[in-house]
Amino acid sequence: MSKPDPKWEERLSPPDTKPTSSVAEVRDDWYVVAIGRSLGSTPLATTLLGTPIVVYRTASGVPAALLDRCPHRNVPLSLGQVRGEHLECGYHGWRFDREGACRAIPGLCGEASDSRARHVPAFATREQFGFVWVYATPDVEPARDPFPFPHQDDSDYTTVRQTMELEGSLHAAAENALDVPHTAFLHRGLFRKDGGARSEITVEVRRFHDRVEAEYIGEARPEGLIGRVLAPAGGTVTHFDRFILPCIAQVEYRLGDKSHLVATTALTPRTDHTTGLFAAVSFRFPFLPGGVVGRALEPLAMRILRQDAQMLRAQTANVRRFGGERYATSELDVLGPHILRLLRQAERGRGDGAAVEPTVKTTRMQV
Ligand code: FES
Repeated sequence: MSKPDPKWEERLSPPDTKPTSSVAEVRDDWYVVAIGRSLGSTPLATTLLGTPIVVYRTASGVPAALLDRCPHRNVPLSLGQVRGEHLECGYHGWRFDREGACRAIPGLCGEASDSRARHVPAFATREQFGFVWVYATPDVEPARDPFPFPHQDDSDYTTVRQTMELEGSLHAAAENALDVPHTAFLHRGLFRKDGGARSEITVEVRRFHDRVEAEYIGEARPEGLIGRVLAPAGGTVTHFDRFILPCIAQVEYRLGDKSHLVATTALTPRTDHTTGLFAAVSFRFPFLPGGVVGRALEPLAMRILRQDAQMLRAQTANVRRFGGERYATSELDVLGPHILRLLRQAERGRGDGAAVEPTVKTTRMQV
């Protein structure tokens, strides 16, 4: 019997990890916090970039968002209730308007004056195409609008929305949503036929000041279940994957002139390693009614989302177990490193957003 390697214990230990992190905090921008129809007058306690926030709808139907802490005695305002246009704390009943000003103190003779100490930091809100957005920096007037989800007003398109909580950083979730190579393994048989022949295609990656886009050129219709549902007649696919600052992952497929699908996902960094996913899938397939396609796609989409969520959970747990992140990257990881670079730049400030000529990189890959 050969002697045991004296270093065998070292080999079983976790490898040295450089204390790197793909967590980025872009605060001067909009994030989705709820699907509009699910937000009522009952206050919703949520977290955005680690900050506890209470989101609610006032009696006039306007969404509002305040820091989830009463300035009086630190009680979560999410335990209170909406009274007309105000949010009432559940402890002593102080009332705040949607700008965070204290408007009433029960039992106090005379009018409650708002003061700096009584003010609750308030976050700008918007309701747009079925989602409620919150600006992540309080007490400022945002200089830009939330991302416009495409085809939401277009009667030719059917839209289905889905939401899910993920255990993973925004970067990990965005890379997962836009990563093509894992689909043949983790989602075996759903996008591409299991064991089917692979074809070689070209990927062109274009980097802009606020986004990165990968175009997959020469891709045939996927032979998996989804491909057969969406394009029974086959054909060549036009396929784009995009990451748009600060939180949008978008996948777009076209088949011929008429068939079109855009899956737009807003990723909300709740904490460093938890991310809310808010997806709207808009599609137009002339040979099938939208409702039929929606019903056929939903269970498949949910299966894919659950598989991704499970893998992200395992990835995040392992990052914690090893005390940090370490990456080996190949040419097939076409978007992940660009997404991180964009997030890191945005963390330092978005600048004036002037249009720039895209930088283009071309790669060959098998799908
Ligand atoms: Fe909110 Fe007293 S703790 S009113």
